[in-house]
Amino acid sequence: MLKVNDLHVYYGGIHALKGVHLSVEQGQIVTLIGANGAGKSTTLRTIVGLERPRTGTVLFNSEDLTKLDTHRIIQRGIGISPEGRKVFPNLTVMENLELGAYHQSQKDAAVQMEWVYTLFPRLRERSRQLTGTLSGGEQQMVALGRALMSRPKLVLLDEPSLGLAPLVVEEVFRTIQTTNEQGATILLVEQNAMAALHVAHYAYVLETGRVILEGPGKTLLADERVRQAYLGE
Ligand SMILES: Nc1ncnc2c1ncn2[C@@H]1O[C@H](COP(=O)(O)OP(=O)(O)O)[C@@H](O)[C@H]1O
Ligand SMILES: [Mg+2]
Repeated sequence: MLKVNDLHVYYGGIHALKGVHLSVEQGQIVTLIGANGAGKSTTLRTIVGLERPRTGTVLFNSEDLTKLDTHRIIQRGIGISPEGRKVFPNLTVMENLELGAYHQSQKDAAVQMEWVYTLFPRLRERSRQLTGTLSGGEQQMVALGRALMSRPKLVLLDEPSLGLAPLVVEEVFRTIQTTNEQGATILLVEQNAMAALHVAHYAYVLETGRVILEGPGKTLLADERVRQAYLGE
């Protein structure tokens, strides 16, 4: 479904991505893990056209996205939940969700919102509450729900567990798994390597702009180098 080849991205003189590759097959959860500054967000931002690569390709169902505008890329069927959630605290839950469906007909948006509410019953209960008054975990569900409102075939999640308490992290990861079981393909960026590797079918380890290791989630969980560098053992 998604195939990223030899991506090089610069911020001025900073060479942030030095030949990143990754693939996501339909139906999978694929995770990209790595320390702060490794280039995880840059990879996601490049996929949706918010950064432009100097070289490399991003193929989505065989079409190269690197020349398309972000709104076209979203229309092709990619949803993104950005780092730091970026929900609007002074809008209600429902209004935040509606923002994720801006290019759809009202009818399609209503169908999609019903699906999001089925996935997250708590958001239905809180639909008229101001988003800023929700807990961190609930706000993360709003961010994920908003990404799902565009009927994406592929969902990009940038550090959904950031800043959340351990029990809430578990809940968010369960939600990600349920979303996947309901048919969404997911590319999950995380610093929480342990939780991400547990849910991922396949994983890539990014270090200073390069993929240094890849394999099935369970295989990397057992890998000595991963355990030392990312699981604190
Ligand atoms: N807007 C920017 N301008 C300059 N450098 C940036 C910018 N965004 C990210 N970088 C740099 O690019 C590298 C990768 O950053 P990022 O993709 O945010 O990493 P991660 O998401 O893995 O923490 C880091 O060295 C970071 O400082
Ligand atoms: Mg980041």
